[in-house]
Formats: sequence, structure tokens, C-alpha cells
Amino acid sequence: MDLVLREGAFEGETHIVTGASQGIGNAIAAALAAHGACVALVDLDADKLAAVRDEIAREAPVAPLVVPANVTDEQQVADAVSAVLDSTGCINGVVNVAGITRDSRITKKTYDDFKAVLAVHLHGTFLFTREVANQHWHPMFKENGNAPLDDGVNRSIVNFSSVSARNGNIGQVDYTAAKGAIEAVTRTTAREFSSYRARVNAIAPGPVNTPMLEAIGEEGVAAMSRATLVGRIAEPEEMAATVCAIQDPRLFGFTTGQVFPCNGGMYMA
Ligand SMILES: NC(=O)c1ccc[n+]([C@@H]2O[C@H](COP(=O)([O-])OP(=O)(O)OC[C@H]3O[C@@H](n4cnc5c(N)ncnc54)[C@H](O)[C@@H]3O)[C@@H](O)[C@H]2O)c1
Repeated sequence: MDLVLREGAFEGETHIVTGASQGIGNAIAAALAAHGACVALVDLDADKLAAVRDEIAREAPVAPLVVPANVTDEQQVADAVSAVLDSTGCINGVVNVAGITRDSRITKKTYDDFKAVLAVHLHGTFLFTREVANQHWHPMFKENGNAPLDDGVNRSIVNFSSVSARNGNIGQVDYTAAKGAIEAVTRTTAREFSSYRARVNAIAPGPVNTPMLEAIGEEGVAAMSRATLVGRIAEPEEMAATVCAIQDPRLFGFTTGQVFPCNGGMYMA
């Protein structure tokens, strides 16, 4: 994987990436690892994660950790964060990427589907955020006499919204509700975690070439491409490059509580 930051930008750091088995999460995990991070790969299927680990480890300086977990399960998330802390002793970054879609218009939308989509995107983001704070950053803050953690250590969370949080999207009442809420959660977390000197931002991608987009087919992709000002959908590596930049305090150390519109110009912030 080509470097987008200086070599070793995340050397000595640990970053958790959820949804790391495929698509954008996979690209983010590979990119963070290429820059020297120890990446904890979180997703549902342990075998898939092991294959991703082997693939990334072929080129990256530090082999990733395989941490299977369902992001909607409170206990599994707690265990995943404990496992990462047991292995590395620190967590510098969290990238909440895991997601699903269950698209259908409101009249056809089942309550189960609505809840499932909210659970993965919104509840999963909340659970990982809370767990890293409870197990790691908040205890450090307390040990520091409840004083802000001005220790120069990089701490940063990137959450995943979507262009459709702002634009709306037919068939996605659940998905857009979750993404809008994630943007609000990002702003609140940025305020609360200022004491940990942890930055919290979100990115709101336009269409990206991943398995999630397969359902819309060739015509759908062509229509999406026309809806951008750059005339194409994005590649997962472009989202990964943006996440790497945000996670690097040398580039975005003064930026927190923001939503980055990585949407090819589908709307202008
Ligand atoms: N692809 C796009 O066009 C696009 C656009 C805007 C935003 N996004 C967002 O980017 C993120 C990644 O999307 P993608 O396109 O790579 O999707 P994807 O479907 O390719 O990958 C999602 C990953 O999340 C994992 N996952 C699902 N439920 C999980 C759970 N309960 N616990 C743990 N892992 C779980 C899946 O197994 C999968 O590996 C999502 O949050 C999505 O909403 C995607």
C-alpha cells in the first residue's frame, strides 16, 4: 500500500478499526498498518479477519491483531477492548466503520430491520467509544487528578456518517437516522473527550466502490457518478487516506467535532 503520510507516522500506536473484513474498513486497516500502527481488526467472522491480518502483515511493519466482535453486543465490545489493551497496553485511535443496509421504503420497512441498522451503526459506535473511554482514557484522566491529559499522546476517533445523512435517501430511513445521529454523537463526544485531549471527528462519504454498493448495480453506479462533480464514485483507499490524515495530529491536531464531507461535491458544506 502506498504511503500517504510520512513513513512510521503511527509507529508505537494502536488503532481499532471496526468493519475491517472488507470494503472501507479493510482499506483503512491496511493504510494505518502501512504507516506503522498496530491495528486491531474487528468484524464478525474470525476466519475472514485472520485472512485480512495475513494479507496486511505481508507488507506492514506490525502484524494486526484479530479481534472478532459483534459491535452491537455490549459484552463482546467490552471484551474486544480488553483484549486490545491486554496485547498492546494502549489505544490511540478508534475508527467506527462497521455498517449494514436494509433498504426499503418506510411503508415496507420492518421494525426489526430499522432496529438492526440503528444497532450496527449508532449503537456500535457508542459502545466502542464508551468502552475505550471507560477502560482506558477515563482511568488515565482520573489518575491525572481529573486534569486534562496534556501528555502529547495521540488520541483520536473517526466515526462514519454518509452523504445521505444530509441529503436523505429513499429506502434509507434507518440508515440516514443512524448517520445523522452519528454526526450528533461525534460533536457531543468531541466535547466530552476534550478532557482526554482526544479528537473526535466523522467522515461523510459519497458513493464508494465496496460490497455495500453492489446492490445498486451498474446503472446505479453511473447515476451516482453523475451526481458528483468529479464524475465518478470513490475507491475505499481514498477514504482510508482521509482517515489516516485525520488520525495524524501533525495534520489535524487542531480539528475536532467536525464532519468531513468526502463526497465528490455531492453537496457543499
Ligand atoms: N460504500 C459506500 O458507498 C458508503 C458511502 C457512505 C458511507 N459508507 C459507510 O462506510 C462504512 C463502511 O461501508 P462499506 O461500504 O465498506 O461496507 P461493507 O458492507 O463493504 O463493509 C461493512 C463491514 O462491516 C461489518 N459489520 C456489519 N455488521 C457488523 C457487526 N454487527 N459487528 C461487526 N462488524 C460488522 C461487515 O461484516 C463488513 O465487513 C459504513 O459505515 C457505511 O455506512 C459507505
